[in-house]
Amino acid sequence: MTDPKILAARFPGDFLFGVATASFQIEGATKEDGRKPSIWDAFSNMPGRVHNRDNGDIACDHYHRLEDDLDLIKSLGVQAYRFSIAWPRIIPEGTGAVNEKGLDFYDRLVDGLKRRDIKAFATLYHWDLPLALMGDGGWTARRTAYAYQRYAKTVMARLGDRLDAVATFNEPWCSVWLSHLYGIHAPGERSMDAALHALHVTNLAHGLGVAAIREECPNLPVGIVINPMHIYAGSDSVDDQAAAERAFDFHNGVFFGPVFKGEYPENFLSALGGRMPEIEDGDMATISQPLDWWGVNYYTPMRVGHDPAEGAEFPATVSAAPVSDVKTDIGWEVFPQALGDLIRTVNARYALPDCYITENGAAYNMAVENGAVDDQPRLDYIAEHLSVTADLIAEGYPMKGYFAWSLMDNFEWAEGYKMRFGIVHVDYATQVRTIKKSGHWYRQLAAEFPKGNHKAG
Ligand code: FCB
Repeated sequence: MTDPKILAARFPGDFLFGVATASFQIEGATKEDGRKPSIWDAFSNMPGRVHNRDNGDIACDHYHRLEDDLDLIKSLGVQAYRFSIAWPRIIPEGTGAVNEKGLDFYDRLVDGLKRRDIKAFATLYHWDLPLALMGDGGWTARRTAYAYQRYAKTVMARLGDRLDAVATFNEPWCSVWLSHLYGIHAPGERSMDAALHALHVTNLAHGLGVAAIREECPNLPVGIVINPMHIYAGSDSVDDQAAAERAFDFHNGVFFGPVFKGEYPENFLSALGGRMPEIEDGDMATISQPLDWWGVNYYTPMRVGHDPAEGAEFPATVSAAPVSDVKTDIGWEVFPQALGDLIRTVNARYALPDCYITENGAAYNMAVENGAVDDQPRLDYIAEHLSVTADLIAEGYPMKGYFAWSLMDNFEWAEGYKMRFGIVHVDYATQVRTIKKSGHWYRQLAAEFPKGNHKAG
């Protein structure tokens, strides 16, 4: 199954193979050329939040190694690169002055991709909110959605003509629930009320962003990147099945519903709607403008059971045991089948446009030995998930591309530099990049594309 030629033969000739990163995770240079702090600078510099108190000050030093890193991407033979733009470089205070030097960096990035014939997939928001916006309440404040709209318009006016696709947000589940309810990600809030506000403001910002992008670049494919949970009930019991349904609404429905149907899920609204901010006239229409594509980030399934505790808050679930005992180094259950089940489920529930797998990959922390990194389990992980993707294509689902997470090891949020997701190893002391076994394998696969078997019409 891991023979790249055999695997390649299962994909249409125009299927896109790419690699992905995000600004805060790789760039470093957090204090240079006018950039101001983001919520992740503040959060990571606070003891107890991020493993080893690691921060993004240097990261992969990508800001200074741009050309070499673009050569690295080219050397992997991929056709597309997914990266994110740092809002605190572009409008460092969130509102107010635009920083031309920030735009210049992404100008060089996009031009560098064009020169190398690599498609540019930009994400506008991958979690580095300008810290100054926390003065208003960050994502809990409606004003932030309008600040985001202006940021989106500013970026598009400068870069939009050379992008191949743009996503408004990366994984709103993380920037809403993980960041405001579970307290694991910046700003580290643990409040349902705050999270419910962040939810609606984020959805609204997405919609305002779509409008801003279309105003500037009417022909640029616009999408959103979601990390839907594939939710399995822990048992067949009626209680656990109902719990899984509530979990679907809470973890997925609150994003898919507004964006693709113009409504929040009913059960969610009846449980928590009273604590949401006001949904103003026109908000749901703004949020549900048709999209050209959507991105799915998938790593591991979610398994839930019913929470019997008296007064348990919606969705009132507890974790259920994993089925597979195969886990990556970060402890995430490996279960490729869930990627297929997930795509089938969300397509059955919503009318979805073309889909890219915008992230998929695995944390394995093998070191360099004799100049090489033998990360066979990552290679297997990627191959297995691609095999499921090929099945989905055969079933008729519009899967258009796959981006490996990640191009290279990087700042893995609350895990700091401990968890390595790259298909390229980074030695943080020397910044030497070493292509891992999985990276060499991915290059062989990508080398088969584009191939001349495009279906007619
Ligand atoms: C996703 C994030 C990405 C990376 C991977 C491992 O949730 O979008 O930045 O951290 O997980």
